[in-house]
Amino acid sequence: MAKEKSPKEILSSMTLEEKAAMLTGADVWHTVEHSEHGLPAITMSDGPNGVRKEGAETLCFPSACALACSFDAEAVHRAGRLLGEEANANGVDLILAPSINIKRSPLCGRNFEYYSEDPYLTGELAGEFARGIEENAGSCLKHFAANNREKLRMVSDSVVSMRALNDIYLEGFRRAVSKASPMAVMSSYNKINGCYAGQNKWLLTDVLRGEWGYDGFVVSDWGAVDEAAVSVEAGLDLEMPSNKSDTQKIISAVKSGALSEAAVDRAALRIIKAAQKAKARVRRKADLNAHAAALSDIAAGCCVLLKNDGGLLPFEKGASVAVFGRGAVQPRLQGGGSANVSLPSAARPLDALSKRFSVTCYDGSDLKKVAEIAQNNDVCLVFAGLGEEEESEGYDRADLSFPAAQTALIEAACRANPSTAVILTQGGVTELPWKDKPKAILLTYLLGSVYGEAVARIVSGEAEPSGRLAESWVEKFDDCSCRPYETDGAVCEYGEGVFVGYRLYSTVNRPVAYPFGFGLGYTAFELSGAEFTADGERVKVSVSVANTGKRRGSEVVQIYMSVKDGETAHPSAELAGFAKVTLQPGESKRVTVEIDRDALMRYDMSAKKRVHVSRCELSVRTDANTVIFSETLDFCEKKATFDRNTLVGTVLRERPELADFLKPYLCYAILGNFNAKVEIKNGEAVGDKFFTNVMNTLPLRALYNITGGAFTQEMIDGIINPARPVKQ
Ligand code: GLC
Repeated sequence: MAKEKSPKEILSSMTLEEKAAMLTGADVWHTVEHSEHGLPAITMSDGPNGVRKEGAETLCFPSACALACSFDAEAVHRAGRLLGEEANANGVDLILAPSINIKRSPLCGRNFEYYSEDPYLTGELAGEFARGIEENAGSCLKHFAANNREKLRMVSDSVVSMRALNDIYLEGFRRAVSKASPMAVMSSYNKINGCYAGQNKWLLTDVLRGEWGYDGFVVSDWGAVDEAAVSVEAGLDLEMPSNKSDTQKIISAVKSGALSEAAVDRAALRIIKAAQKAKARVRRKADLNAHAAALSDIAAGCCVLLKNDGGLLPFEKGASVAVFGRGAVQPRLQGGGSANVSLPSAARPLDALSKRFSVTCYDGSDLKKVAEIAQNNDVCLVFAGLGEEEESEGYDRADLSFPAAQTALIEAACRANPSTAVILTQGGVTELPWKDKPKAILLTYLLGSVYGEAVARIVSGEAEPSGRLAESWVEKFDDCSCRPYETDGAVCEYGEGVFVGYRLYSTVNRPVAYPFGFGLGYTAFELSGAEFTADGERVKVSVSVANTGKRRGSEVVQIYMSVKDGETAHPSAELAGFAKVTLQPGESKRVTVEIDRDALMRYDMSAKKRVHVSRCELSVRTDANTVIFSETLDFCEKKATFDRNTLVGTVLRERPELADFLKPYLCYAILGNFNAKVEIKNGEAVGDKFFTNVMNTLPLRALYNITGGAFTQEMIDGIINPARPVKQ
């Protein structure tokens, strides 16, 4: 058999026309093949919760909104592996998943498809999902980047600060790219600070390749390309779907010198490498029954128990159960748009429940009938939540309202029988005007094909809901961090900066219905003996977790960081690590969470790059608002670098040994008397608020002219350049 040509050999045997033709699809789902070079087409298909390809044999997977709540990297990796197997089995080389944009606004129509408002959780879990896919197929991180609303998505301009881009909107991608080395990254429809993502050289080349070292290819979102030649130059490798007129534009641009042939070669080579990688994969069948069983196990760990007064759930064995709501017989499995997979049928929760309880089901809306049935049963279960048409790609929700008819149904059941639990099934946040009425609320998000079985297993106690919220559940939209910047216009200013979601709410103590990281379970836990250790930049947090309840259960230990560098306003809590532990009743385990170095990096606005924080407080929490232990850590001796505008307060904090030297000059500068009786301690003039504040906000340079030159320029330089002794 002829030896396989290397990618470079194939490239060098291609004409400019052939190479340019590779930079756009052959059709909607394939790249161009070159059989003469033994180069197959790459077959692509959506999506994040199942293989959308026409005729595919696939399951509908839990959506990312649910997987994220598992806080379980291993489980999410397993789900990714199953999706990769199903893609492979259906002849798909590249599955266009996962979608990993940050949930900046709860109105975003595609939030069901995304993981979290937090970039660390997003990167960790989506990175594992992609790594799982990559065992049998290519994965594609999307939509790169700052694609956080559906409104006007193909012309919308996300105006974002460099700090918020680096620390929030790119960080999940960076983390996932480094974890999974995905076959592709999909550039998004929108602009970022005025430049379309698909032709944004800073994004696609300087950051993705230059800073992160990504070596896969960049594919456009479908129909996103504006200027083909500019896109290729910027680092876009493949325009989808097919666009032969752009192929001609690329050829003309090379011939006119507007585009280098080297840029075309670079893009074509990446596609050739990916096609050869796809060709080398072994095709395998997928066992969908085994997949369903595995997803069923994973699903329970995604469900979030928001409320369980009096331990209503799990229901007692033998209880008679009244079941209400359309979702019991027409289950909601997924969201709308390109992620949507067509399924033959979906297991009904009612059938799964009927195997475990004596069930009376009424999925109508006659509230008198609801009351009558509710009264005649031990307990009630109400299926409620948004419809698939309300949560979709292509449009955002107008508000966070909850369907009034379902509120009426829930309240009618609760009035007739207080032992009522609500199964809340939807892909994102809504107001919950009824949340004080039922004794229990189980949030399932969207669990796909195994939804019915998962709900029945949880309600019967065969499985424990151990999910934790991956987004803040606000009371109302007006409380949202993005609210002041909400617009129907094409320019979307991310004015909240890094203060997205719980990063704002926990910093300003804004109440929410349920905080990020929150979730109850069927047992109880006690955390003790926290230890924070840092050798150099390796940081570990250990804590003992004991199951003090009567049932097996899982706890999620969450580690948050709050930067204390004194220079910039930072959120009071930022997730920096987590670990899920499952314990038998009475069992305890020592849990250690390693905080990786990247989690301690933040964008420094004066250095204009990500730097390691010099000082931070680490805390062990059970949700964003519940601190169990905390400790402040100082890292590498951050050599204080001063300049003429450094404040005297900063100098005194970083170099307290200069206080005595500076004091007479400060007394003269502020009080006109070198020998004034002032005591300076820890950067404060003891007992003198005026002196303290003026002193601490004086830039070094001012000391010269307000002391009439007594504080010389050499003295200023001596402080700025500690290598040179301060001339005293
Ligand atoms: C859509 C989506 C993207 C999807 C692609 C192909 O517009 O934005 O997520 O993978 O087109 O369907």
